[in-house]
Amino acid sequence: MAIVDDLKTIEEEAAAGIAGAADLAQLDQIRVAVTGKKGSLTSVLRGMGQLSKEERPVVGKLANEVRGRVEAALEARKAELAALELEAKIAADAVDVTLPGRRPAVGHQHLIKEIMQEAEDFFTGLGYVVEDGPYVDTTYYNFTALNAPEDHPSRSARDTFYVVDPSKDDNELLEAGHNTDRLGISELLLRTQTSGVQVHHMEAHKPPIYMICPGTVFRPDTADANHLPQFNQIEGLVVDEGITFGDLKGTLDAFTKAMFGEERATRYRPHFFPFTEPSCEVDVSCGVCHGEGCSFCKHTGWLEILGAGMVDPNVLENCGIDSERYTGFAFGIGAERVAALRYDLPDLRMLVTGDMRFLEQF
Ligand code: PHE
Repeated sequence: MAIVDDLKTIEEEAAAGIAGAADLAQLDQIRVAVTGKKGSLTSVLRGMGQLSKEERPVVGKLANEVRGRVEAALEARKAELAALELEAKIAADAVDVTLPGRRPAVGHQHLIKEIMQEAEDFFTGLGYVVEDGPYVDTTYYNFTALNAPEDHPSRSARDTFYVVDPSKDDNELLEAGHNTDRLGISELLLRTQTSGVQVHHMEAHKPPIYMICPGTVFRPDTADANHLPQFNQIEGLVVDEGITFGDLKGTLDAFTKAMFGEERATRYRPHFFPFTEPSCEVDVSCGVCHGEGCSFCKHTGWLEILGAGMVDPNVLENCGIDSERYTGFAFGIGAERVAALRYDLPDLRMLVTGDMRFLEQF
């Protein structure tokens, strides 16, 4: 019977189509094409009218069985595809909570700040207090109270940034006896050294004094490999009974060893500062050539890192401290110099130009 063969073909094709359906939409197309109102199975059943009385129940039974199997296959595949699609959706939306998080890019301290912090930690470990001071100060604190004579060259506008004081004009200064190279010089300046903080501190505190002041200073120097117009110092001041140059040496030797390593030697060279007597500059043995002499240390084997000395009795007296009873020492460490020595930096400008390739190395 032709109609029985048709049913067989329809079932086979439907089974193949259902198995091969890639998603629910394709499966539904197959359902419409086979069991829908205009589907292949439906139209075969419509043709049953032409069959004889005996054939009709046989074919009808067969057709219903085919329809039942096709529908069951459709349902089974539908459940399968729905499960697959749900799985895919879950996988796409999934958050793997075990993955390590993505760290936000955070910056870090600048090398100079780190060195200042390290120096601060060293001295606070010895019981020093940390002091702060103003960037804009007066000639009194930066020079006069520090025993610098009125005609000291460091007071000239060539060595100090003066802040314009609109209340003073140059004629007044001339009348007050200032010579012409002091024109435009006011009582206000950008501090050229942190030493003025010694005076501020001694005015406010009585001995025993163990103080450091890390801070920025300014000088009208053109930036080059060894100079910056703005740089940082770590000032130190000790005033107590019986303080000697031996205490100064012991303290600064311990500091240089902590900063540069036990194997580095120190050298104390006589020097002059108006506010200390005797005064010295302290060198550290060159870390590149270990004292042999190389281009980094200009063939001397030594690198200068700080100025120091015993506090001049005049400075103590200027601050109302009895210089017969108390003695002290002071020092000023160049933070940029410490950085340059520790990391063999060939040019101080690297510290301030903000090149990430340089900064990220520290
Ligand atoms: N203030 C000096 C400078 O800037 C350094 C110094 C500080 C020297 C304290 C002696 C004592 O060069």
